[in-house]
Amino acid sequence: MALKDKVAIVTGGNSGIGKAIALELARQGVRIVIDYVVDPAATDALERQIAELGGKSIGVEADVSKIADLQKLVDAAVSGFSRLDIMVNNAGIETRTSVLDTTEAQYGKVMDVNLKSAFFGTQIAAKQMIKQGDGGRIINITSVHEDWPMPGNTAYCLAKGGMRMLTRTAGLELASHNILVVGVGPGAVATPINLSTMNDPAKLAQLDAAIPLGRMARPEEIASVVGFLAGDGASYLTATTIFADGGIMHSSVGL
Ligand SMILES: NC(=O)c1ccc[n+]([C@@H]2O[C@H](COP(=O)([O-])OP(=O)(O)OC[C@H]3O[C@@H](n4cnc5c(N)ncnc54)[C@H](O)[C@@H]3O)[C@@H](O)[C@H]2O)c1
Repeated sequence: MALKDKVAIVTGGNSGIGKAIALELARQGVRIVIDYVVDPAATDALERQIAELGGKSIGVEADVSKIADLQKLVDAAVSGFSRLDIMVNNAGIETRTSVLDTTEAQYGKVMDVNLKSAFFGTQIAAKQMIKQGDGGRIINITSVHEDWPMPGNTAYCLAKGGMRMLTRTAGLELASHNILVVGVGPGAVATPINLSTMNDPAKLAQLDAAIPLGRMARPEEIASVVGFLAGDGASYLTATTIFADGGIMHSSVGL
């Protein structure tokens, strides 16, 4: 898919990996719906940054754990830019609680923001793409924890594991519509979700030592994978996950 003048939604798009994805796609000529739930000023700043690149974007406040809000994002893409070609299910949260300590509310929130949002985001985006009739891309930002257990973060692992099967199953179901569904599984990335580790030198040194490439990723190093997956070069990739993890999943050091 040549990216110029395509239209993408990026959920959780005003910070971290989502922001880097919005900028990467905008640089390639994609018009962007930036979803956000907090920090409208950051969204405004990102819209200005995209405009400076010669791109177009609109910020839309939408809580992706609500189906009506996901529909609002697709409606904004269609009313603002006439269509939707790329859905990036990026929004995510974690609680860092063990299986023994996780409350029903924490469980529900992690599942809804990470997994329910990706499920219904896929469904609602795919319906719009099918209506248009010329295919599309759905890119789920999962994690190495779609596969790799992380004690003390059980609900998050469960949600990302669910996204793994969403990617594979929806990829098969939607293939006949030429809608490709792919996961991107980052390792540790320097973003707000990891502030507690980044602000603790001992924890950060332990993490860096466990990563074969010796450091966390920059958000742009995940965004460039998404840029590839959205484009022509990835036309035969579906129902699978690309891991961008600096080798950590296969590291013998461990955390
Ligand atoms: N940073 C990492 O090390 C890492 C590793 C693997 C996977 N990931 C995944 O990457 C994605 C982006 O995370 P990040 O690292 O950029 O952190 P981040 O905290 O900057 O991004 C998460 C975004 O999701 C948004 N969000 C939270 N709840 C929402 C809701 N209900 N509706 C809409 N948006 C909501 C947040 O406001 C934020 O913009 C997440 O899915 C995360 O699980 C991150």
